[in-house]
Amino acid sequence: MRHFLTLKDFTPEELKQLIDRAIELKRMHKAGEVYEPLKNKVLAMIFDKSSTRTRVSFEAGMVQFGGGAIFLSPNDTQLGRGEPVEDSSRVISSMVDMVMIRTFDHNMVERFADYSSVPVINALTDDYHPCQLLADMQTYVEHRGSIEGKTVTWVGDGNNMCHSYINAADRFGFNLNIATPEGYEPRADIVAEADAEIALFNDVASAVKGSDLIVTDVWASMGQEEEQKKRETAFADFQVDSSVMALANDGALFMHCLPAHRGEEVSAEVMDNPESIVWDEAENRLHAQKALVEFLHLNR
Ligand code: CP
Ligand code: NVA
Repeated sequence: MRHFLTLKDFTPEELKQLIDRAIELKRMHKAGEVYEPLKNKVLAMIFDKSSTRTRVSFEAGMVQFGGGAIFLSPNDTQLGRGEPVEDSSRVISSMVDMVMIRTFDHNMVERFADYSSVPVINALTDDYHPCQLLADMQTYVEHRGSIEGKTVTWVGDGNNMCHSYINAADRFGFNLNIATPEGYEPRADIVAEADAEIALFNDVASAVKGSDLIVTDVWASMGQEEEQKKRETAFADFQVDSSVMALANDGALFMHCLPAHRGEEVSAEVMDNPESIVWDEAENRLHAQKALVEFLHLNR
C-alpha cells in the first residue's frame, strides 16, 4: 500500500506516468466517457483548514469515478474534540477506501498514515502541498511540453508550496530559483536534501532572469492571518507584476495555486494576462488527483 504525503513518496518515473495519465483522464472526461474504476469506493476528506479547489476536485473526482466522498470538519468529528489521531485513523480507515487530509502540522498526516489501513493523501499541511504540484506539472506540460531542464522561479514566501516546488525540482528535473525576503527562506533541510539545482535570492529581478515559469503564492498562508500586516511590509518588493514577467524568458508562463490576492503577491494585470495559466492549473487539480487516486487504488 502507498501513501502520498510528499512528492518524494513517488519515483520520478511514477510521477511522469501520473502526469501522462492525468492528461489522458482529462481527455476522457472532456469526451464524456464514463470511467468508474472506484465504483462504490469511498474517500474520507479531513479538512482542518478551508478549501475551495481541493474539496471540489476530490469530491467531484470521486463521483466521476463511480464512488463517493465524505467531508469531515473538526467542528463535527471527535478528532476536533481531541480523539487521538492514531485512534481516529484506525477507525476511519476501517470504513473507507482512501483518506485525504488537510491540516496544520505535517506530523499529523504522518501519524495518521502510520495507523491507516488505506492510502492517505496529503491535501496540504503547513510544510507541503504535493497535490497542487501534480496539477502544476500537468499544466506546464500541456502548455510547453516537458519541464525537465527548464528554469522555474518561485517568488515570495518559502512556504508549503515552495517546499513542494523544491521536491518537484528534484523529482521532475528542473532548475529552481527562489526569491524571498530575508527571514522567509524555505527550510534549509528541505533545500539541502533536494537533488536539484536550487538557488536562493533575496531580490526578484536577479531570480527571474532566464526563467520559463514564474510561480507565487499568498504572503500569509492559512494559520498566519495575524502576520498579514507585518508580511505586507516584508514582501512589498515581491509582487509579480508585468515588469517582473518582462525579465523572464520569452514565452514564460505564470502560475499561482490560488486563492490569489491581486495587488499583493501578483498584479491584476499579470493574473489576467494570457501568460497566466492559473485557470487551467486550478482545473487540473481535478484531473491530476483522479490520476493519483486511481494509482493509489491500483497499487493497494
Ligand atoms: N490551491 C488550493 O489548494 O486551493 P484551495 O485552498 O481552495 O483548496
Ligand atoms: N500557502 C497557502 C496555499 C493555499 C492553497 C496556504 O497554505 O494557505
